[in-house]
Amino acid sequence: MTFHVETKNNIAIVNFDLEGEKINKISTPVGEELEKVVKELSKQTLLKGMILISSKPDIFIAGADINEILAIQNVEEGIQKSAHAQRLPTLIESLPFPTVAAIDGACLGGGLELVLGFTYRIATNSDKTKLGLPEVSLGILPGMGGCCRLPEVVGLRPALDMILGAKVWPAIKCLKTGLVDEMVPKELLLSRAIEVIEKGLWKKRKKSKFSLLNLLLEKNRLGRSFIYKKAKESILQKTRGHYPAPLKALDVIYECLDRGLTDGLKKESEGFGLLVETETCKNLIGLFFQREATKKLTGSSNTSLKLQKIKHSAVIGAGAMGAGIAQLLSFKNISVRLKDVNELALGKGLAVCRKLYQELVDRRHLTSRELDQKMFLIGPTTEFRGFKRVDLVIEAVVEDLAVKQKLFSALESSVSKDAILATNTSSLSISDIAAQCQYKDRVVGMHFFNPVHKMPLVEIIVDPITSDQTVVTIVELTKQLGKVPVVVKNKPGFLVNRILMPYMNEAAYLLEEGIAPSIIDDVMLDFGMPMGPFTLLDSVGIDIAQKAAHVLHQTFGDRMKVHPILDQVIQAGYYGNKNQKGFYKREGKRRVENKAIYSVIGFKPKEQEYISDEWETRMVFQMINEAALCLEEKIVASPGELDMAMIFGIGFPPFRGGLMRYAHKLGVEKVVSELDILHRRYGERFKPASYFKNLAAQGGKIYADN
Ligand code: NAI
Repeated sequence: MTFHVETKNNIAIVNFDLEGEKINKISTPVGEELEKVVKELSKQTLLKGMILISSKPDIFIAGADINEILAIQNVEEGIQKSAHAQRLPTLIESLPFPTVAAIDGACLGGGLELVLGFTYRIATNSDKTKLGLPEVSLGILPGMGGCCRLPEVVGLRPALDMILGAKVWPAIKCLKTGLVDEMVPKELLLSRAIEVIEKGLWKKRKKSKFSLLNLLLEKNRLGRSFIYKKAKESILQKTRGHYPAPLKALDVIYECLDRGLTDGLKKESEGFGLLVETETCKNLIGLFFQREATKKLTGSSNTSLKLQKIKHSAVIGAGAMGAGIAQLLSFKNISVRLKDVNELALGKGLAVCRKLYQELVDRRHLTSRELDQKMFLIGPTTEFRGFKRVDLVIEAVVEDLAVKQKLFSALESSVSKDAILATNTSSLSISDIAAQCQYKDRVVGMHFFNPVHKMPLVEIIVDPITSDQTVVTIVELTKQLGKVPVVVKNKPGFLVNRILMPYMNEAAYLLEEGIAPSIIDDVMLDFGMPMGPFTLLDSVGIDIAQKAAHVLHQTFGDRMKVHPILDQVIQAGYYGNKNQKGFYKREGKRRVENKAIYSVIGFKPKEQEYISDEWETRMVFQMINEAALCLEEKIVASPGELDMAMIFGIGFPPFRGGLMRYAHKLGVEKVVSELDILHRRYGERFKPASYFKNLAAQGGKIYADN
């Protein structure tokens, strides 16, 4: 039994407690059981109301059971499943008594769709209470009435924001948009829900707080068509048509508004059925499971290790990365000593942290009071003051081995013997950085990506001497920070940058052949990358990329020979966005190719009459081949983790399922034959990795499943 009903003063309290699971999920059997419970209650003439509450700590309903979605065989079955699930909120909506959803913890996907059928929603003010419809991130749309009901509750534009953007909102934002009617402390949740029914407070439920402009735009067809057009343009611009789900969801939302609930629900289940069968949906659900598997990784096979508690930390270097890391740690309530060489640098770093918090306040994810509390957790210093009590230090000073080495040896005498010493280096060997340290087992790499608050990946760099205790603690901390950890070996470039480098180098070869940077970038945008290689070079800094490219060349030899264009532009002072001298420049608001760079490299791109498919193949296959070499060298444990790293580190297109998943879909033989052709045509840098050759010889596959 999943639902337990108790009745108090003629109010039915339905406790949701999915048997044998840590979380509540909605599946067909669960929905059917609840339907039965609700139908029984509807017959009780004396009943004054019904409350739905979760018995699980910190979770209300996590969403629909994804395994059930994955098992859907065809469009027809998808339509039926959705139509069947839609019955439940519709039934609840039709009850003769008020219904209150008492929400503590996550209320997502099907969970939110269910409670949209309730008369009144109360949320707790806990950090864990979040409501959202993340379906489109799985390649589907909310198929349980969410597309139709959400716009009625919060207004069209906020609803589009949540559904098309797969957004999850904290309780405070839900309150402000009218998605929930009240926010209360956890302890008062049930008593308040009872009070709402007993005192008839649900009747005074405020309608959504639409502004006059919103009303004008949303409540007439013309205004709505305008919003529709803009939303469609924005989706197409962002996705280049690679993701069908947001487009379909947009159509369904409009159908609901124009034709009413009954027709809208029909359209919604049809849309769900069509989407669930797409390749994109299968890839995105595959990623979801891979992400769940990553959450279970601990970083060691030794299960008896005790995690170290990280309550107090220090960050050294208050620059772009250090400030971002300090903000993240404080956001998760870990105190931070932020150290830099002078007050000016500290002031700049603190201003960055405050700005990041202010953005959260502006987006209603945080209150101003919380901003002050979080900022209070960051204590600036130019000394090692307060370092004795920290559990972890993250170093993010300039990428200079001598500076980092000196710092690490000074650190040892300033911290307790148990403190973990992490470096955010993007290219240096962690054992070189710790060369002068006595206790190297507590030294680890924690490679965040830029900007820290946006990029989900953290590469955890492990040397043979790093203790398992250190690794598991840092893996756990990374998860606690809401990031995706991937454990990688301490070898130049680690994983993501190593795979990126030959790809960017190949873009330079294409430029040398006369293809303009904007065309090359466009080819990769069409492939689905969030930005093309030249835009990426400008944004990470051409100087940083060139430095890293030489380190990789030294380590891996001529396969990674740095294209001379990179050296030429650096010598001429072209560092990218940081000094506004890159492959692109700004002309007013527009970003245009910086033609001055062609006099530096000594030739101009040609007029292109056609786009060759081979350009994309060359760039993508450089990444695929390097990824295979990384697997061969056990830089990362599995293709699945590699795929996670590429998606969360540089935004490799999720709809393709990941870099190695993409190669898997092509098939090992096709990959080898393509590499053989490129090898003959362009030389050593395309020599197929033996990983592929071996797999092809054994008739093997990259992934065991399809
Ligand atoms: P940055 O130049 O913005 O900041 C470095 C900060 O360190 C400056 O505020 C500087 O005053 C301070 N600093 C220098 N020596 C110091 C010392 N001895 N003690 C205390 N503070 C000192 O550099 P950024 O970009 O933040 O990079 C920092 C580290 O993060 C580097 O190792 C870099 O390779 C790595 N990294 C950078 C990424 C990026 O995209 N910028 C991405 C991932 C890692």
